[in-house]
Amino acid sequence: MNFQGTRIVDLAAGSVATGLYILKQKELRKAQSGKLFVNMDFSDKTGTVNAKIWDATPELFDGLQVNKIYYVKGRVDLWNGVLQLTVDKYKMAEPEIQEKIEDFVPSAPEKPEEMLAYIEQCVESFENDDLRLLVRYFLETNKEKLLYWPAAKSLHHAVRSGLLYHIKRMLMNAQGVANVYEGINKDLLFAGIILHDMDKLNELESNTLGMADYTVEGQLLGHIPMGILSIQRMSDDLSIDPEITLMLQHMILTHHGIPEYGSPKPPMIIEAEILHLLDLMDARIYDFTESLQNVEPGEFSEPVWSMDKRRLYKHKI
Ligand SMILES: [Fe+2]
Ligand SMILES: [Fe+2]
Repeated sequence: MNFQGTRIVDLAAGSVATGLYILKQKELRKAQSGKLFVNMDFSDKTGTVNAKIWDATPELFDGLQVNKIYYVKGRVDLWNGVLQLTVDKYKMAEPEIQEKIEDFVPSAPEKPEEMLAYIEQCVESFENDDLRLLVRYFLETNKEKLLYWPAAKSLHHAVRSGLLYHIKRMLMNAQGVANVYEGINKDLLFAGIILHDMDKLNELESNTLGMADYTVEGQLLGHIPMGILSIQRMSDDLSIDPEITLMLQHMILTHHGIPEYGSPKPPMIIEAEILHLLDLMDARIYDFTESLQNVEPGEFSEPVWSMDKRRLYKHKI
């Protein structure tokens, strides 16, 4: 591939850019003038940018294919402090380029094999035999999917290998927390972290590029009830101590903290409370970084839906 366009991270306001990007999502909207326009997101490995095609038609909209790579030429503007691309010309890239789509997909910043090795090493240090057996069994049976699975369809960690990245960073933080506070069962906390989102592997359906959608089971049940069933199934297969099974199920049940976010009960053991807080922290920090990616210093982000529509500020320090 000879074409060298502008990477999304390098887009600068006021310039005209040409690049090769994946069309991540598209939407046909009506402007106040009554004219149609396409609201869309383009991504490459370095990030995502919102783009618009003004004066669109339904035919033009139908012709745009999501998850395909396009040559895009457009003007980069700063709109409400956020970079936006006004598309002037676009063309679908050749089949040879479409085959290399992996090079364009946003991925977790660490190698999946290394993240998995970190998690496996942590499991090997468990003193509790049942927890080691159970978590090892989960990792072994799901290894292939875990390497590329995203953690979400569109919220935090919705990138290739995002689930592994989420687990790994939570584990790193948990090690710190467990060294500071007393009375925490480390094995239980670490096992809960590795297993808490385990049924995202079944709640979502993902291609190997980490582009996901909800399954029927995922839509009707969600990863929390599905995870509780999976823990039961694995525990029965491996004859795990029922107290351990129950604690892990409680940790999965409560990890979203409140009923509005899918947890019918609040955490009632310290390891569940810490899991919930670490989960929230990791998602928040991810969203902060992501939302400020295309924001210039001294400007605010768009309202962030996952954070009660807060607008985030990129300071100049
Ligand atoms: Fe979750
Ligand atoms: Fe999570």
